[in-house]
Amino acid sequence: MTALGVAAARAIETKQPDALVHDEYAALFVVASGDSDMKQLITDPTLWAQTPFTSGFIGYRSRFFDDFFLPAAAAGVTQAVILAAGLDVRAYRLDWPVGEVVFEIDQPKVLEFKRQVLTESGTAPRSDRREVAVDLRDDWPAALVEAGFDPTSPTAWSAEGLLPYLPGAAQDALFARIGRLSAPGSTVAAETVGNNVDMGRIAEQESEYLKGLKGMPFAKVDLASLFYTDERSDPAELLTVHGWTTSSLHLQELAARYDRPMATVPEPLAQIFDSTQYLTASKPS
Ligand SMILES: C[S@@+](CC[C@H](N)C(=O)[O-])C[C@H]1O[C@@H](n2cnc3c(N)ncnc32)[C@H](O)[C@@H]1O
Repeated sequence: MTALGVAAARAIETKQPDALVHDEYAALFVVASGDSDMKQLITDPTLWAQTPFTSGFIGYRSRFFDDFFLPAAAAGVTQAVILAAGLDVRAYRLDWPVGEVVFEIDQPKVLEFKRQVLTESGTAPRSDRREVAVDLRDDWPAALVEAGFDPTSPTAWSAEGLLPYLPGAAQDALFARIGRLSAPGSTVAAETVGNNVDMGRIAEQESEYLKGLKGMPFAKVDLASLFYTDERSDPAELLTVHGWTTSSLHLQELAARYDRPMATVPEPLAQIFDSTQYLTASKPS
């Protein structure tokens, strides 16, 4: 449901006159899911103004990750790993160099639904797409290598809309494992939420708030029960300690980069948006 909520937001972003991402497949997932509220939402522009989650944020975020992957691929990084790919269709949507291998890690049911919908629509990937159906709290590196991942070749990694869904230890292990699996020249992009926010309290407020907005992405998801709010290290610090070069941008900075002002969102979303950063890191060659 969280993956579907983001797809619904991308379907709406795609229809904006100044869309930062064009994801023509996102609406297919919403329709195929049979969720009539979300289907109505993506087809009725009068409802969009009532859905602050979709008001620009997903556009900035999707574009940031698009703008991360394509230059990396153009610079010769021949494998990409999308952690918690959900219903992200970058493997189908982006203009990858010939032969680019794109690994998509997520839960089996999510990947199965995605494959089914895209296959039925007659869509073929524009990359060498490999599904890796594994729980990111388990031994995902073994599953990734099994799917053909080459740890001696540089990699572009992304973690978009993922980290709050992992326990602190799994998040720390995730970045330690990325470090070990990354050949020199590898890069990482991640959406991170600052340690200074009380995610437990915010998740509870957010769940209440979202439930009040019928048909809105995430209205049927109890985020408070999905978010882990235990201690975790700052991914930028972890990577820096291991010699990576890092930089982070706030949402407002992405808004400036893409020359589209950020809409005002009500609490508790405003607190989450304020503390969200977009990290890029590279491992020196
Ligand atoms: C909010 S969605 C984001 C999906 C995608 N990155 C996007 O931005 O469209 C979160 C995704 O994380 C996946 N996820 C959450 N916990 C996971 C875990 N422990 N192992 C694998 N995937 C997980 C969910 O299945 C879901 O697809």
